[in-house]
Amino acid sequence: MTDVTPERLLARMTLDQKVGQMTQPERMHITPDEVRQYHIGSVLSGGGSFPGDNRPADWVAMNDAFWEASMSEEDGGIAIPLLYGVDAIHGNNNVVGATIFPHNIGLGAARDPELIERIAAVTAKEILATGVDWTFAPTLAVVRNVRWGRTYESYGEDAAVVASYAGRFVTGLQAGYGPDGVLGCAKHWVGDGGTTDGIDQGDTDVSEETLDAVHVNPYRPAIKAGVGAVMASFNSWNGDKCHGSHYLLTTKLREHLGFEGLIVSDWNGTDQLAADFVESIALGANAGIDLFMMPEKWKELIEALKQLVRDGIVPEDRIDDAVLRILRVKFAMGLFHAPRPADRPWSNSETFGSAEHRAVAREAVRKSLVLMKNEGAALPLARQANIIVAGKNAHDRGHQCGGFTVAWQGQSGNEVIEGGTSIWEGIHAVAPHAVLSPDGSACDDGNFDVAVVVIGERPYAEGMGDIRGVETVVEPGSGPGIVPGAPTERLEPYAESLEHAVNHPEDLATIRRIAEKGIPIVTVLVSGRPLVVNPEMSASDAFVAAWLPGSEGAGVADVLFGDHAFRGRLSFSWPASADQNPSREDAMYVPAFPVGYGLGIG
Ligand code: GLC
Repeated sequence: MTDVTPERLLARMTLDQKVGQMTQPERMHITPDEVRQYHIGSVLSGGGSFPGDNRPADWVAMNDAFWEASMSEEDGGIAIPLLYGVDAIHGNNNVVGATIFPHNIGLGAARDPELIERIAAVTAKEILATGVDWTFAPTLAVVRNVRWGRTYESYGEDAAVVASYAGRFVTGLQAGYGPDGVLGCAKHWVGDGGTTDGIDQGDTDVSEETLDAVHVNPYRPAIKAGVGAVMASFNSWNGDKCHGSHYLLTTKLREHLGFEGLIVSDWNGTDQLAADFVESIALGANAGIDLFMMPEKWKELIEALKQLVRDGIVPEDRIDDAVLRILRVKFAMGLFHAPRPADRPWSNSETFGSAEHRAVAREAVRKSLVLMKNEGAALPLARQANIIVAGKNAHDRGHQCGGFTVAWQGQSGNEVIEGGTSIWEGIHAVAPHAVLSPDGSACDDGNFDVAVVVIGERPYAEGMGDIRGVETVVEPGSGPGIVPGAPTERLEPYAESLEHAVNHPEDLATIRRIAEKGIPIVTVLVSGRPLVVNPEMSASDAFVAAWLPGSEGAGVADVLFGDHAFRGRLSFSWPASADQNPSREDAMYVPAFPVGYGLGIG
């Protein structure tokens, strides 16, 4: 393959082979033989979609089969290595036993771009351990309303904080497209974090000046760092769906920002462009989509693209442009010279989920914690104290990892998060007299010096994490940008209020049960966003925002006992009341705590 170039390869390709390269089915809806037969360029795992027992060896075997099929030259086939994509957004989070990092909201509070580059480098190695070569990360959303169910995927509401991470993450992840790197994907282009009322896939109604300064801003360092892919966003901008906007995808991203990689659609993202499927494909292709993430309807996509070219609705040179971009990325990554996944240096590596990797995640947990209140010197804790550890999130590694962890929506319990430590396990490892009592009932007849109460949210992802009224738009893609008749699905919101005591009254009940005994209380909030927690905070002597710390919950104990200082700073402003519209766009929004707030001790 020494003399092969993307251009020479393209010149040999049939229309079938070209549109096959532009097609990305989901693994559950295609076989390796169909990858060969239809010349498929990429396959993905949706959140929680895994092979076999969900161990690295299962993933490597699956990728070997897909790769072999893509390299087949049977029946005139052309060997073009397949790209396998996953949402490894806080470690290789689909896979059991992976190192799970804090979600981005916590990393934003750490204000540590150097750490971000190390996290990305470890993540790349744990992705490569499974034979995968592409992750749909970093998320560069600049979230302006914390009601959005994807707030935790964002580094913050300040574009400058997100931009300070964007390039470093790409550099750590792609590693110069060497053997230690995987393909990154900056997402979601553009304005995903700016929708009105934080409605998922809603409408971002801002001037182009604001779009540039807030939402486009972080893509510049990502592109400068060489990110090879960008994912189009479900939201609309002033009523125009991003997936169908030639201005946003081609003029702005390619011509103005100079992006030369491939643009991938989001999950059936073009469906929302038109009631008619073929028309929606035409709109997406002509706007600038190169690779269609079409989990199930991939055969219909292939037929539609061929028909559209035959009918002259999608020019073949647009197809050639898309295929050339895909091939150039694969060449740049060295995929054409890489051996089968099983024979690559990091496949099935012992470093997957290793102590060395977990130490980086534990450091990130420490640096992400924000001390919001500390009265009566409740902190730091003493190791020999009699400590009651309460709250539903005290011993639940699933809750501390949040969404996009093994399952798309995440899950409760400890079993599924193999390796790592719950917050309780971290405390108990250093405090021999600590007692776990999730509802706090041990305080009824116990004699305790201090309580740690770990409260917060249960896991969620995407629109199912939104906080919105059920009566308001509940269908993704709703709002001015939705095309009548285009398919949408109804997603129930997480809650209607930002008031935590309304959504989870059990937490305030636990705090109050202990407070009645006169025991000082350190409350730790495990959540994907700032919440209105006025009664919970008032009843606490100390209050810590821990965000979604991931698998290494012991990092919380490292700071609670003073081994490491609190250094986290809010990357989101904190709402004072539930009736506020917590949005930076709202001039009347006066938060309880501003961006940058955080106390320090130790
Ligand atoms: C989802 C998300 C996107 C993710 C993709 C593949 O709908 O919007 O962030 O990368 O589908 O799982």
